[in-house]
Amino acid sequence: MGQIVCFANNKGGVGKTTTAVALGYAWARIGKKVLFVDLDSQANLTAMVSPLALEDHESSIRDAFLGKKLNIEHAADHVDLVPSELSLSNFDRDTAAITGREYLLLDLLKPVKNKYDYIIIDCPPALGLITYNALIASDHLVMVATPDGLAYQGMVMVANLYADVKSNPRLNPDLKLSGVIISKYERNKLSDMYVEKIKGEMGDAFIEPVLSKATKVAQAGSFNQNIYDYDPSGKVTKQYLEISKVLAKRISKR
Ligand SMILES: Nc1ncnc2c1ncn2[C@@H]1O[C@H](COP(=O)(O)OP(=O)(O)OP(=O)(O)O)[C@@H](O)[C@H]1O
Ligand SMILES: [Mg+2]
Repeated sequence: MGQIVCFANNKGGVGKTTTAVALGYAWARIGKKVLFVDLDSQANLTAMVSPLALEDHESSIRDAFLGKKLNIEHAADHVDLVPSELSLSNFDRDTAAITGREYLLLDLLKPVKNKYDYIIIDCPPALGLITYNALIASDHLVMVATPDGLAYQGMVMVANLYADVKSNPRLNPDLKLSGVIISKYERNKLSDMYVEKIKGEMGDAFIEPVLSKATKVAQAGSFNQNIYDYDPSGKVTKQYLEISKVLAKRISKR
């Protein structure tokens, strides 16, 4: 059974996309079939994963939401992608007349779910209708946060939305909070305080190791390079691999 995993935080810049891409590639490297679905109009994941320039994609997830065939592109070994585009930012307006528009993603992914081991959804830094679609379509939610107050608050907002979606039998009662990942950690008093706070509050969902902040990660992202090729023996690269194993184990227990 394919497992659908979405990565979310209401706060921007906390490492959602970078972490989602690194974990997806970790799974692809061991032969799992991975589909990335970019739900952010910034299209950062699309840029990081696809060899194509952003303007060269035939169609995007936005077109699929509006009734076109879902465009699944081959991106790399064992890696496929549904790209995003800037105009996805009009999603609310575009879909205003569609009834049941919170189920659009669920319906799009149903027919392809079992072609993949993992479908990885990258959410925008917002809790609007797009993230709502992601939570309704997913089996697993992974929250990513940097260890600071604003990212913590953004994560709590996602946790509240998760509770709403899970408690409503018409939405997604089977959704599981399968991971809380801390990213861009640098040792200082504030970071350590938030790591402990998040760990304490999130209990079993908390995933170790914590991901360190490293210039190589930001560089790899900027050059649209895969971290496993860019910095194969890096500390954070090893942390991503470790987390990919922990998360895979949790997901398979479902
Ligand atoms: N472990 C890390 N060490 C250093 N830099 C990192 C790390 N993880 C991510 N970054 C960098 O931090 C920035 C934000 O990361 P990313 O785009 O993954 O965050 P995001 O939460 O997806 O942001 P947005 O909310 O805008 O979609 C990027 O420049 C990225 O390269
Ligand atoms: Mg992002």
